[in-house]
Amino acid sequence: MTSTIFKKHIVCIGAGYVGGPTMAMIAARCPEYAVTVVDINPERIAAWQTDSLPIYEPGLLVLVRESLGRNLFFSTDISGAIHKADIIFVSVNTPTKTYGEGAGKAADLQYWEKTARTILQVSGSNKIIIEKSTLPVRTALAMERILNANDKGLHFEVLSNPEFLAEGSAVADLENPDRVLIGSRETESGLKARAEIVDIYAHWVAPERIITSNLWSAELSKLVANAFLAQRISSINSISALCEKTEASVGEVALAIGTDSRIGPKFLNASVGFGGSCFKKDILNLVYICEHYGLHEVARYWESVVMMNEYQQQRFVTNMIKVMFNTVAGKRIVLLGFAFKANTSDTRESPSIAVARKLLNEHALVVITDPKALDNARIDLHDCAGRIEFCDDPYEASRNAHAIAVMTEWDHYCELDYARIFKHMEKPAFIFDGRNILDHKKLFTIGFNVFSIGKSPLKHF
Ligand code: UDX
Ligand code: ADP
Repeated sequence: MTSTIFKKHIVCIGAGYVGGPTMAMIAARCPEYAVTVVDINPERIAAWQTDSLPIYEPGLLVLVRESLGRNLFFSTDISGAIHKADIIFVSVNTPTKTYGEGAGKAADLQYWEKTARTILQVSGSNKIIIEKSTLPVRTALAMERILNANDKGLHFEVLSNPEFLAEGSAVADLENPDRVLIGSRETESGLKARAEIVDIYAHWVAPERIITSNLWSAELSKLVANAFLAQRISSINSISALCEKTEASVGEVALAIGTDSRIGPKFLNASVGFGGSCFKKDILNLVYICEHYGLHEVARYWESVVMMNEYQQQRFVTNMIKVMFNTVAGKRIVLLGFAFKANTSDTRESPSIAVARKLLNEHALVVITDPKALDNARIDLHDCAGRIEFCDDPYEASRNAHAIAVMTEWDHYCELDYARIFKHMEKPAFIFDGRNILDHKKLFTIGFNVFSIGKSPLKHF
């Protein structure tokens, strides 16, 4: 059903990290479409319409402002929006199940299914339904069954259009994507719906970057892309452990292998581990699907990527304890950064959470600083209140500290006055660079004992 003003009504269910930025980009590039983003969370919906957006993402405020009130709308009236919609993107959360069958691995589809049932209940016309959230392969089949089992004579065409944006660079990724993937049934109605979605992206994405496929390839590609990216990080992290034993330097190894054009330079930064809402969840999803089909060897292969990530975080803390004379009890340790990567306030699956908890278990006094993620850090560690300190200012945070651990690669952490920080720390002062971003030689000259990932330590004792 189209209105007289707008060519089509697009609705996005779920105003989170994926739905908000993606719809802001579609609205900005397609002014003839009305784009309404709905959510069950009224605070989120209200925040999207203020200068304090519910998520931090460079360039996002300007993008939202461009279309807000013109053809971009945020609303809690989910039924009203669905009723008017021609095209519905679904980007509700699909966390890993914490209960029952598949707990710890399979995706929890309750939010998706609830959404499908609401769509069914309130729809009065045919609609295109697009999976935007990452979903297990063949979820579209279940959705088709739920939606098309209606006695209203309505047809719902289910498509998969997985989102590949990375947080912190969401606006740039949406503006200039490597590719847009649109999967549909290869039936007449499936191909027609596919063309409608291609039309939206063709407003700003070059045709050769719009890839179409069958529904199952699109669903699977999202999981596989994230599994491959995470695998690169786990691979280089595994080598970082070997470098620390052999005096090789992981940065030099990464450069040497990354210049091979078949390997390429990206995603070879050894770190304290990968975080984020996707990598672990999507790999575990892949593992679960493989197990479901009896492909146990394939499941174990991908599971090892997650296990290596957990090992890397454990190794980081074990090393801290070992070099700080086998105890951190009562020692003030600053986590420089809490977000799972720079330029985001998101802390989901951030290695900082595991590191903070392990240090607290060792009775350390943990101090957390981050320019954008402190609110989320407080929520993540709410059960540790009283045992942990949150501090906006890295200089204040490090006063009388025994050690600093760099957890997030925020640019400005490279520009801090480390001589000033050193002066106010307990001695010997330690820096553990979990992101290999600091100038280690300079820090060593100042007086720090410097431990990084995959490099020989620089120590004064
Ligand atoms: C990822 C995918 O990149 C994106 O395509 C998908 O849509 C969602 O999942 P995101 O989780 O936002 O995006 O961030 P990404 O840049 O991939 O980083 C993930 C984690 O890996 C971060 O913790 C990051 O710090 C870490 N990382 C990344 C490394 O440790 N080393 C690297 O070389 C690259
Ligand atoms: P992602 O990173 O995939 O975007 P988020 O958790 O940031 O995930 O966003 C998902 C959003 O979906 C949340 O704001 C949540 O309130 C919303 N949501 C969950 N279930 C529903 C639902 N049934 N109807 C509308 N919105 C929903």
